[in-house]
Amino acid sequence: MANGGARDRWVTRFGLVMAMAGNAVGLGNFLRFPGKAAAAGGAFMVPYLLALVLLGIPLMWIEWSIGRHGGRYGHGSTPGMFHRLWKHPISKYLGIFGVVLPAIIGIYYIYIESWSLGYAWHTLMGDYWGKTSREEMKAFADGYRGIGAGTFAFSPDAYLFFLITFGINILVFARGISKGIEILCKYAMPTLAGLGVVLAIRVLTLPPLDGRTVSDGLAQLYVVDWSKLGDAGVWISATGQVFFSLSLGFGMIHTYASYLKKEDDIVASGLTAASTNEFVEVILGGTIAIPAAVIFFGVAEMRTIAQSTFDIGFQTMPVIFQQLPLGRVFGAMWFVLLFLAGLTSSVAMFTPLLQFLQDELDLKRRTGVIIIGLGSFLLMQPVVLFLHHGILDELDFWAGDFGLVLFAAIELVVFAWIFGMKKGWEEIHFGADFRVPGIFYYVMLIVTPLYTLGLLAWWLWYSFPGKLWMTDVNPADVPYLWLGRGMIVVLLVLVAFGVRYAWRTHPKYFEEKVQE
Ligand code: TRP
Repeated sequence: MANGGARDRWVTRFGLVMAMAGNAVGLGNFLRFPGKAAAAGGAFMVPYLLALVLLGIPLMWIEWSIGRHGGRYGHGSTPGMFHRLWKHPISKYLGIFGVVLPAIIGIYYIYIESWSLGYAWHTLMGDYWGKTSREEMKAFADGYRGIGAGTFAFSPDAYLFFLITFGINILVFARGISKGIEILCKYAMPTLAGLGVVLAIRVLTLPPLDGRTVSDGLAQLYVVDWSKLGDAGVWISATGQVFFSLSLGFGMIHTYASYLKKEDDIVASGLTAASTNEFVEVILGGTIAIPAAVIFFGVAEMRTIAQSTFDIGFQTMPVIFQQLPLGRVFGAMWFVLLFLAGLTSSVAMFTPLLQFLQDELDLKRRTGVIIIGLGSFLLMQPVVLFLHHGILDELDFWAGDFGLVLFAAIELVVFAWIFGMKKGWEEIHFGADFRVPGIFYYVMLIVTPLYTLGLLAWWLWYSFPGKLWMTDVNPADVPYLWLGRGMIVVLLVLVAFGVRYAWRTHPKYFEEKVQE
């Protein structure tokens, strides 16, 4: 867009909110949240709610503002957006994380999403009926993914559903913001909510089993064990979950917000999108998997299962569905729900990169879609084929656990301290339907940045060294984990060179005044 031209825009406010909520509501809400909450055991919701109010919601408004502000100058990704907030040569380079992080997530997330589609099919067909223990379902899951069959984790079954899922994603992505993503979310989100409500009611009306009731399950979330609050791990995990679930600290919300018009409201829409995500996460996500697992397996076993994020969804739930009347139908609903939640998130993940290619490198949209389609497909192959060596988890750690905290800390410093909270506050309120309570001015100025920087320091000090040197991984996996890291580094370097090239070849553009 260095040459001008109209930006794609959200067509309706309902569409915008559904798209933003669709971006946030994902596998994180139905798999990651119950997993993390259950594993923490009894003290999760306190740091979670605190992080939601002090970090999640303020950051949501901030990211919308950075995005709308950048979009006004024709920037749809964070390198250009940061440049407009801070005229320092380094600022545009800090923005590269906001292009690379969501793309990294996209590379592995689409594969997990495809499992939901595959499982929806196999559930409806009753293909694993009769495998009524968790061990048998684990064997089924390994077989489905081709683990244990040889050097490669390849099975035609999983690969087929991967191809279908990838194809759907690229199709929607290629149609663009208003014609692709907005339309998908306008239908998928209400459908997802409907499925979630039906499943939640099904779980809430389950009869007790061996004396275990639904309330025992809900108690796992809502009865606070105050003694656990001293555990730093619980705070880190709850705070990380708030970021991940709201898609904050990725550069993603910024790109979606760049399709707003100058005078579009941020305060009310941002809050609505965040609240929708929280309703789906806490009320629906919290009511389905944990209580069902507690009733059928008991508290102790449920906690063990929850240690591994995806087991509860793909191994435990299938065992439970087999014991319910109409289990095939309910089971298929669960996996379709997961698939829709995943799809409305994954179609977003390459938009910052596409927008970067278009806005800053002047590529045609079509060319951008082709490059991203081929490139991402290529990078997905090692994730699929070496799944058993942990590449997926490695990417998830660097982008989904660590990267988001790093990038959130960077953007908070740039926005609240360098651009300045006074200007920032005005920017947030431009065109607003109502005003944010004044106390949030100080929260955004002091609490949110310091909290996030503290979190970053914790990561760097406690978790980073061991992770970096791979102290407790299987030596056989080491080369594969380096491959995963190499992918991240290559993407960062490529985008950094892209930034350098853009700012060198058309410097005038980056000095222009507001483009309406
Ligand atoms: N919030 C999404 C979920 O809960 C996942 C997500 C994480 C995401 N980072 C993202 C989505 C970046 C889009 C872009 O599953």
